[in-house]
Amino acid sequence: MPSPLHIRAAGAADAEAIGAIYDEGVRSGVATFASGPHDAEERRAWLAGRPARAPVYCGEADGRVLAWSALAPFSHRPWYDGVAEYTVYVSSGARGRGVGLRMLDHLVAAAPSFGYWKLVGMILGANAGGLRLARSAGFRVVGTHRAHGRVAGEWRDVTVVERHLDQVAAVDDHLPS
Ligand SMILES: CC(C)(COP(=O)(O)OP(=O)(O)OC[C@H]1O[C@@H](n2cnc3c(N)ncnc32)[C@H](O)[C@@H]1OP(=O)(O)O)[C@@H](O)C(=O)NCCC(=O)NCCS
Repeated sequence: MPSPLHIRAAGAADAEAIGAIYDEGVRSGVATFASGPHDAEERRAWLAGRPARAPVYCGEADGRVLAWSALAPFSHRPWYDGVAEYTVYVSSGARGRGVGLRMLDHLVAAAPSFGYWKLVGMILGANAGGLRLARSAGFRVVGTHRAHGRVAGEWRDVTVVERHLDQVAAVDDHLPS
């Protein structure tokens, strides 16, 4: 990285950048089942509707948002209360330089302060970068759901990864600034 990556809670002013980075992932066809476009208005509503245990973060350098990440409860069932699903998106121009790993490491550090004891990732088949990132961050592959959903009408597998969070880090940057 030419400049240090600063990771902070996302706000409404980040909506456009978050949407643009998300749509790059959508266009790749391997990152998500979601379809775009995600414009600023749509992402602002998405940010405003996040529950307390579903934080969104931005990674920025030189005042530019290069990446975003998020946690969301894995299930509505109370016995899975401590399990969250993670999301990490890096803008195409900033990939391959450790930004994704920084963002995921940060989620791992932040998650216990929201009461989570485990993170789970759902990686679409053919998403080699997403799978490698998970392994690099200490996640293990649980297994692969076959034909779990469709992207543009085509069935896609989903590989589930998990990491148990046995270390509680002192992270409080999820608090609104
Ligand atoms: C997946 C993604 C977040 C990786 O971000 P990144 O900043 O390029 O990742 P990093 O530079 O931190 O690399 C992390 C590891 O993944 C590897 N990697 C990154 N992209 C890769 C690719 N396309 N193919 C294979 N390996 C890849 C890196 O070599 C590195 O491996 P190492 O730790 O063994 O050296 C990025 O490609 C992206 O935003 N993709 C779209 C969204 C997505 O798929 N998110 C994952 C599911 S939530």
